[in-house]
Amino acid sequence: MIEHDIVIVGGGLAGSRAAVEIARTDPRLKVAIVSKVHPIRSHSVAAQGGIAAALQNVDPNDDWLTHAFDTVKGSDYLADQNAVEVLTKQAPSVIIDLEHMGVLFSRLPDGRIAQRPFGGHTNRRTCYAADKTGHAMLHELVSRLFQYKVPIYEEWYVLKLIVEEGEARGLVIYHIPTARIEVIRAKAILFSTGGYGRAYNTTSNDYASTGDGLCLAAMAGMPLQDMEFVQFHPTGLYPVGVLISEAVRGEGAYLVNGEGERFMEHYAPSKLELAPRDITSRAIDTEIRFGRGIQGGRYIHLDVRHLGKQRIMERIPFAHDEAVRHLGIDIVYEPMPVRPTVHYSMGGIPTNVDCQVLSAHNQTVPGFFAAGEAACASVHGANRLGSNSLLECVVFGQRAGASLVRHVQDRKLPSVNEQHYLDEAKGLLAGLLDQSGPLRIDQLRRGFQDTLTDHCSLFREEATLKAGLEQIANLKAKYSQIRLDDRGTCYNTEIIEALELRSLIAVGEMIATSALAREESRGAHSRTDFPDRNDEKFLKHTLAYQTPEGVRIDYRPVDLSLQARDPERFTPQARKY
Ligand code: FUM
Repeated sequence: MIEHDIVIVGGGLAGSRAAVEIARTDPRLKVAIVSKVHPIRSHSVAAQGGIAAALQNVDPNDDWLTHAFDTVKGSDYLADQNAVEVLTKQAPSVIIDLEHMGVLFSRLPDGRIAQRPFGGHTNRRTCYAADKTGHAMLHELVSRLFQYKVPIYEEWYVLKLIVEEGEARGLVIYHIPTARIEVIRAKAILFSTGGYGRAYNTTSNDYASTGDGLCLAAMAGMPLQDMEFVQFHPTGLYPVGVLISEAVRGEGAYLVNGEGERFMEHYAPSKLELAPRDITSRAIDTEIRFGRGIQGGRYIHLDVRHLGKQRIMERIPFAHDEAVRHLGIDIVYEPMPVRPTVHYSMGGIPTNVDCQVLSAHNQTVPGFFAAGEAACASVHGANRLGSNSLLECVVFGQRAGASLVRHVQDRKLPSVNEQHYLDEAKGLLAGLLDQSGPLRIDQLRRGFQDTLTDHCSLFREEATLKAGLEQIANLKAKYSQIRLDDRGTCYNTEIIEALELRSLIAVGEMIATSALAREESRGAHSRTDFPDRNDEKFLKHTLAYQTPEGVRIDYRPVDLSLQARDPERFTPQARKY
């Protein structure tokens, strides 16, 4: 059996930052990373527009409390205010730390880190590396993993989170290149496994964003929090859905409908194109529904031509490249076709501010931690502001590392029955390979993605959600009818696709069930049958549990601790921009 003090699942920004913190703080600890892809291929690498922090380099009047207010208002008051305080207070120091590691941030003429405007932020506080910020940050952090000699189990897929007697004790892992199965026991485990954009048929997320960590946690009895809040990024390149960064609008791009109108003035007159994402995405969708897409079609235009070639190539070169690569469009001369695309999961595994996972009874689960997009701390509530997610990864990655170091000091390696888990895993895989039904994995996956997209999208209502859940139940029942053609042990990617589909279906069912239960509209969750926010009934976090009888819903309160400090700004109120 493999043994480590701490195992981190996922090598993206949150996981890498946690590993660096552990290695820096207590080099005696044996920390390892397990990832189904090479860490550099984690989805964090695709983050573009930037990372928010009240550095005051461009707007000297900015401060953490204003950043906190923007974040809480952006969240439609569902964010936990204690977690937002931690996020925004710690932001400047994590940026300086990244700077010291060597991250190549773009600069002001005097050499200080440049900052640009972003949606829903009062001040210009988004630090960036052109429009390749995640790339710049992840490369530096992964270099540090090598510097600290952190072992990386690369291309290992986690089959199971071992939880016994209420504590996390280890993992069962599967080596994709060779089909070897191993059991790892550890004093503590961190899940930083990212999101689940692939549950939908159009997303900015990479192919690996299949919600595996969330599914494994749910299968181990943990709740998933606020799963109904799925973020649609306003500007996915049409029709492919890849991200065209909000940095493009931060640099001054216009959103224009089929009538040639900058329509955002009807939806967010003070912020226009830089309104928060929930509002901007709904605005675009509404324009399209009312026949004001370009030539009445399913997209509108994102126009940067007035910025000029030099600024485009200097500030948003990646957006330029993406439009050329996917559509053959040169944005210096032509507008881009865009429409909302699934981008981010506000929900996830519930944690406290020290990244300890919260169980059914709001108690922490010994040995189990989560950070980054897989977690729900909850700093984003019902709607995340752009450039707060890289920040969350780094702040809570650092905090997870520090917290893990403290946690394992007086813990022994737990005992784990290795043979039992090996047999169970072999049974699972043999069962999959023995299935002989008529369905291909791709058929079922596409059916599921279309179902979730059609029934639980930007706008929802009871009848459609119920119909979607019925269809999901039917598709779930068909899982045992998928047939795998590859019986080999070398890179059997069909097995991984089948397991990822298991994750997607589990997560999708949680999303739709949580959405059905929340009979109000808040942030990214917009119910046409309940168009108003209802603080009296729903100013609370949803907890969804996987049970043999189906998904069970419960709730927990929202932290409003900043309200006492600044009641005018932090008391829930109507959200206007
Ligand atoms: O638009 C973007 O560059 C994405 C940023 C984010 O999701 O924070």
